[in-house]
Amino acid sequence: MNDSVSSLLLNFLQNNDEQTLWIADENALGTAATVSPRPSLVIVSNRFDIYTQAIEQGHNAQFSDYDFSAIEDESLDAIAYRVSKERAVVHHVANEARRTLKPGGILRLVGEKYDGIKGYTDKISKLLGVKSPAKKYGNSYVAELKKSEQTRADTSDKVLDDKQYAELRQIDQLISNQGSELAWWSKPGQFGWNKTDQGSALLIQQAEVLFAQTRYPSRVMDLGCGYGYLTLMTTDWPHTLRFATDNNAAAIASAKRNFEAAGLNVTLVADDCGSSIQEEFDCLLCNPPFHQGFAHDSSLTQKFLANAARLTATQGVALFVVNQFIPLEKMAAKYFRNIDKLVDDGHFKVVALKH
Ligand SMILES: C[S@@+](CC[C@H](N)C(=O)[O-])C[C@H]1O[C@@H](n2cnc3c(N)ncnc32)[C@H](O)[C@@H]1O
Repeated sequence: MNDSVSSLLLNFLQNNDEQTLWIADENALGTAATVSPRPSLVIVSNRFDIYTQAIEQGHNAQFSDYDFSAIEDESLDAIAYRVSKERAVVHHVANEARRTLKPGGILRLVGEKYDGIKGYTDKISKLLGVKSPAKKYGNSYVAELKKSEQTRADTSDKVLDDKQYAELRQIDQLISNQGSELAWWSKPGQFGWNKTDQGSALLIQQAEVLFAQTRYPSRVMDLGCGYGYLTLMTTDWPHTLRFATDNNAAAIASAKRNFEAAGLNVTLVADDCGSSIQEEFDCLLCNPPFHQGFAHDSSLTQKFLANAARLTATQGVALFVVNQFIPLEKMAAKYFRNIDKLVDDGHFKVVALKH
């Protein structure tokens, strides 16, 4: 998290003992360690790594896709939130703040100009019923948005459009698999939730070419599975045992629904880079994340590679797709002996990694 944004949030979290909900998304990695746990602070994260870190630190934490349904109306004194990248998430949180804050309760919003914080401050202060500006601290902004005594939880006329954030929905565009077309389910709150990623399509195409020439793997791991696209594309692979894992709660919910709908038996695990998985795989498919919150982070790619090396069997192959300009081959040399670029389409490259 950007230092000044994080200190604005931490300052607030450390210096109050009210009933507070901290919404900790991908930008909050590492920050739970700097706040002392207390019974009146609950952390909700949609990221498994942040959730486990918080639990290890002794916090009261929940892993969910920002599901606040168990929180009673008008029960919270304060909510702390660094605005997320996706508008549907911010609107969902704002609507839930309106419902769950006590009259007079505060939504503490922090962010930077390019996060759209000023626009959100305007909209959300109207929603909560008290006009308050965002204040500038260096490059960061903080807004203390108060819920007015007159704003009641059950007045639904002013809610912000959150694209029905909580709901899984069927996506119009079908995905094609070996001539057949597949309907799929997804929701906002995760990478490319309503589209097929061009890199992932290239990856699966290369996997098909490779295994049609050799033989199809019997144990496949989809590392960072998202809504499950890569696994869904292995539906026709014969006698395959499938595993899939992701760090993101929306991705896990979508993948679960997709695997059930496709009748696929997949061991699906919420995890950080597959760290808790002990099995080995003949094939690992991975389109690793490039961004961590608002910042680029190559240590995450390293972590994916290290776990891929551990999970790939001695005779197995890990197939990675990345943006053409990422030096994956160089980074992978620390973990794999055989590194082979299978294709480069000018945007993405697929790299085969073997021990
Ligand atoms: C580029 S997307 C690929 C998604 C999917 N495999 C596809 O092809 O559409 C990267 C995925 O990695 C997941 N991810 C990010 N950090 C992770 C972590 N630490 N552990 C596991 N998965 C993670 C993201 O949630 C996202 O679903």
